[in-house]
Amino acid sequence: MAVVAAGNHKGGVGKTAWVINVAAALAARGHRVLVVDLDPQANASRRLGRPFDPKHPTVSVSDVIREARAGGAADGIVPVAWEGLPSMRIDVLPSRFDLENRVYEAALLGSETRLAVALEGVAEAYDVTLIDLPPSLGHLVHLGLAAADFIVCPVEPEYDAVDGAVRLRDITENEKMLARLENPGLRFLAAFPSRVVKSKGGHQHHSASLGGLFGEGRVWPAIPTRSSISDAGDEAMPLAALGSRAAEIRALYDAHAERLWKGIA
Ligand SMILES: Nc1ncnc2c1ncn2[C@@H]1O[C@H](COP(=O)(O)OP(=O)(O)O)[C@@H](O)[C@H]1O
Ligand SMILES: [Mg+2]
Repeated sequence: MAVVAAGNHKGGVGKTAWVINVAAALAARGHRVLVVDLDPQANASRRLGRPFDPKHPTVSVSDVIREARAGGAADGIVPVAWEGLPSMRIDVLPSRFDLENRVYEAALLGSETRLAVALEGVAEAYDVTLIDLPPSLGHLVHLGLAAADFIVCPVEPEYDAVDGAVRLRDITENEKMLARLENPGLRFLAAFPSRVVKSKGGHQHHSASLGGLFGEGRVWPAIPTRSSISDAGDEAMPLAALGSRAAEIRALYDAHAERLWKGIA
């Protein structure tokens, strides 16, 4: 079992799309997957069919972080609301906008490890836990990095998103930072071009730069811009529900699932 955080300091690069679609690809391969939504925007929760409902409030990632009890994450975990057998292998720890309030507790002693503590003994029940990070380098990201074994960075191939991925890579290479997160084993697993538009020359240029920045072996196949991805996300459906229209893109996410599985072994 391994915990993999998807991050980029830049927003809108396809972090959440990657988390939910790789979760689906891993589940289709027979693996048990937990998605931890660590973004107060709660996009992953909604796309997995688990939006926050004020009429029926449930325990969220925000509550289990505040409580910081060993194994406490179990209180908030629910199955995703997608249909179909592979989806039954995916659970989610949903988020809510009030996750933002956990930031104000950052000064408390040991605050960065609260999610890691809450996942103790819980993540072990899954083959892979995927953490969807917010576009920040602040406390919420620290919580995710303290709980993760690996980082994967989707990079929209434009200057600012490349920069945003480099900043996360730098954290994994900074021993002092890892010591403060009490997570010396955190590793940078991969980066990949995300939301690529083939006709944009700049996208080709920046995609080609990733090998030099992260190491050729750490650059995974590019995920192109496809309406199937945004349509499935908008409808809170798995790509599989779109049939043959999504076949090409599902094959790409399956290739990522395969790389991830080999990389965490
Ligand atoms: N490869 C893609 N092709 C088309 N739309 C995409 C793709 N990746 C992401 N999107 C859409 O772009 C928007 C931003 O993506 P999202 O996954 O939410 O990014 P992030 O989590 O990095 O902010 C969403 O509406 C999402 O559905
Ligand atoms: Mg997101």
